[in-house]
Amino acid sequence: MTNTPLNKSESIASQSTLTDSQLQLSCHTHLSGHRPISPADNFSAMAKWCEENGVTHDTYGSGKLIQDFEKKIADRLGFESALFCITGTMAQATALRIACAKGGSPLVAVHPTSHILLHEDSNYQLLNSFKTIQIGSPFRTLSVDDLRSVPDKLGAAVLEIPMREIGGQCLAWDELTAFKNYCNDGEIHLHMDGARLWEVVAAYGRSEKEIAEGFNSVYVSLYKGMHGMGGAMLLGKTNFIAEARKWTSRYGGSVYHRTPYVVSAAMQFDSRIAAMPDCYRRTVWLYEVLKDYPLIVPNPSVPQANMLHLHMPVSRERAIHIRNRIAAQHGVWLFGGVRHAALPNHCSIELYVGDNLVNMPDQRLREILNLWCDKLTEEAETDSTYVNADI
Ligand SMILES: Cc1ncc(COP(=O)(O)O)c(C=O)c1O
Repeated sequence: MTNTPLNKSESIASQSTLTDSQLQLSCHTHLSGHRPISPADNFSAMAKWCEENGVTHDTYGSGKLIQDFEKKIADRLGFESALFCITGTMAQATALRIACAKGGSPLVAVHPTSHILLHEDSNYQLLNSFKTIQIGSPFRTLSVDDLRSVPDKLGAAVLEIPMREIGGQCLAWDELTAFKNYCNDGEIHLHMDGARLWEVVAAYGRSEKEIAEGFNSVYVSLYKGMHGMGGAMLLGKTNFIAEARKWTSRYGGSVYHRTPYVVSAAMQFDSRIAAMPDCYRRTVWLYEVLKDYPLIVPNPSVPQANMLHLHMPVSRERAIHIRNRIAAQHGVWLFGGVRHAALPNHCSIELYVGDNLVNMPDQRLREILNLWCDKLTEEAETDSTYVNADI
């Protein structure tokens, strides 16, 4: 990574002529996530790994590489079986459909910020898979009391660990245990949306197996923190997974060769898992540094995973303007998507603490935060002038 000094205000790209993704690609420094890898580099690393490991293709999910990898993940999380699914979306729709059919109720209790509600295009409604009931506050983690307040018979309950839309918050360990016990005693199928489960192990100080114990099914992602090309694993008992295999096929998810996705995840799985504690330590360090930058406020207030949200006192539009100006002038990509906040002239962004921040020299990050805050101060003034003028 090039460490261009930030006082050198060279324009590496003309902001007006590039799309956001071109601008992002033109940057030499990125705060969030892992170091991007080009398709060419990725495919050659995959080819090398295939050669070294004598990989042969699976056929519709039957083959040594995929089955060994499924077993590896199942063992790691303490489940009888695992199934590679082409997306987490499909894995969850499948798991919850089966759970509800078995549980004798179509009702699934979900948090208002659940991925299923917000980002899956109403799949469960349109495919008649199940119905949802929202429990808990959109700003807080779920509690067992939220679940107790539901008088209806539930087919399943979903816990997302960590809860991405609220900055990666997690239930306190006692709350999690109470939640599991309530579901197990009431015979409610408990499903984990563990898209970022790997990211909470260091923060909880518990293994994936301990966290997953008491869940009836778990979905984990093979990209996001694992940096694969895509794909997911669904875990459960052997008969549950056999049924899930059938349903994913009915949904059109039975890909002929799954090798590319499995290779891209399997070849780096161990090293990514091994790097997670460093990502979490860096997050803890980042929280300390952020105390010197009161305009950028982290949520949650203490780290619970190697991800967080940062709230800023400017509108979403101004935040995008700041991001793009810094990208164009300094080659630094601060963040991707920006969310509106409840308060006017406030917004938030997501930061995933991965390779990029782990490898960035401390001083360099401080320079970037200084620049970011200077621009925030300028833009916050513009926002308040604008609001006052409006009144
Ligand atoms: C919390 C959560 N659950 C589920 C998914 C779905 O994963 P996929 O993109 O593999 O469908 C995502 C994807 O971003 C996610 O963030």
